[in-house]
Amino acid sequence: MILSPSLLSANFAELGRELQDLEKAGLGWLHLDVMDGAFVPNITFGPPLIKSLRGQSGLFFDVHLMIEEPARYIEAFVAAGSDLLVVHAEADRHLQRTLSAIRAHHVKAGLAFNPGTDLGMLRWLAQDLDLVLIMSVNPGFSGQQFIPASVEKIRACRALLDSLDCSQVVIEVDGGACPENAAELVQAGADLLVSGSAFFAYPPYATRLAAFQTACTGLGRHSPAETWKPRKQ
Ligand code: DX5
Ligand code: ZN
Repeated sequence: MILSPSLLSANFAELGRELQDLEKAGLGWLHLDVMDGAFVPNITFGPPLIKSLRGQSGLFFDVHLMIEEPARYIEAFVAAGSDLLVVHAEADRHLQRTLSAIRAHHVKAGLAFNPGTDLGMLRWLAQDLDLVLIMSVNPGFSGQQFIPASVEKIRACRALLDSLDCSQVVIEVDGGACPENAAELVQAGADLLVSGSAFFAYPPYATRLAAFQTACTGLGRHSPAETWKPRKQ
């Protein structure tokens, strides 16, 4: 299991120090939630903030685009230093083209599904992506309650990817993850867990990371994501 802490729950007045603390605590990933106030009812940040953090961090930048028509901004988010760009299945009418465009920049491509969105299109897109993000809350805010049906959806996603000969595709789960449900999520097939409120509210970060890891000891697989490294800038 890889833990990707969501920047949304960090102290925004001290972002540089927060990122240093994460690296010192042994975290390798950072989940960056980009919201446009249209796809979701909240506005966060865009490429300039990511670019300035990139300059001071060696973390793998996992960028979750909760924006309408994300294809318009791929180049900007690549230039800002993203290592993985995740677009929403509900936000783009030309997903195959968008996912291919992301990969053409040598950035990992991910596809996110809202809780109410069926995974069926993976049959046609699994070859074009590196990661599937299962939303286990409705996107927009951190600190929401985990939707229990997500566990079955993770299991169905893993089974579908395996049946398509796409076992290398990584499954990320986002929303309401905590040490108490981490084992169930990993057993269902999650490679990567995003955590915002259940991570940042419980310093020190090394101890909190250990709580997630201990919960998942001996569970899950060696994920292809363990070999993913931040791009050279
Ligand atoms: C929700 C975001 C999540 C969120 C996770 O729209 O995509 O990444 O920050 O926060 P928690 O872990 O508190 O649900
Ligand atoms: Zn997210």
